[in-house]
Amino acid sequence: MQKSNQIEHPILELIKNRRSSRAFSKQPIEPGRIYSLFEATRWAPSSTNEQPWLYIYATHDQVALWTKLFDCLNAGNKLWAKDAPLLILSLARKNFSKYPGANVHAMYDLGGANSFLTLQAVEMGLQVRQMAGFDHAKTVKHIHVPIATYEVGVFMAVGYPGNPDTLPEKLKVREFEPRERFLQQEFVMNRIFD
Ligand SMILES: Cc1cc2nc3c(=O)[nH]c(=O)nc-3n(C[C@H](O)[C@H](O)[C@H](O)COP(=O)(O)O)c2cc1C
Repeated sequence: MQKSNQIEHPILELIKNRRSSRAFSKQPIEPGRIYSLFEATRWAPSSTNEQPWLYIYATHDQVALWTKLFDCLNAGNKLWAKDAPLLILSLARKNFSKYPGANVHAMYDLGGANSFLTLQAVEMGLQVRQMAGFDHAKTVKHIHVPIATYEVGVFMAVGYPGNPDTLPEKLKVREFEPRERFLQQEFVMNRIFD
């Protein structure tokens, strides 16, 4: 599989400027900007316009709630997420509200909404790092997630860019590693399968 660390074709500045940072400034995020993050998700597309996403967020100064979210993360993520001024847990509603049955695209829609949130963050000078590295059982227990209704998606850490020198050495090195991507020929087909 061929990869490159170059942008091969023109893309939006927003996409160019996005990266999953681990180094966050402790600077709080203005409440209006937090509203804008979630507003961006309102305008994401979803199957039958179900909008199956739910977000639980906590700012660093909301110590009890922030710590509840933080405690669900795995040890590797805790190393760097400890300074994130905003933690978000994203969840997907499993069943359609208007029709009977499971919404099999709920998690797909949540991912789309999270991407909208992420690009809105970049537009405001923030960065987002999504995290699948968390303790699912702990999350359900500590956050009282009604699992008959919601599926846990990912956590997200959000903040203004910080100084990578504050990270543990191993993570600091990774912040500066080239970001490689598959070339389009590896995942785009202009033909059917053989
Ligand atoms: C669903 C999902 C789960 C992820 N989980 C973690 C995680 O638990 N810990 C972490 O440090 N990064 C996590 N990431 C970030 C990825 O490692 C990152 O997006 C990838 O290395 C590409 O880097 P970039 O986003 O800066 O382009 C996750 C990203 C996604 C989309």
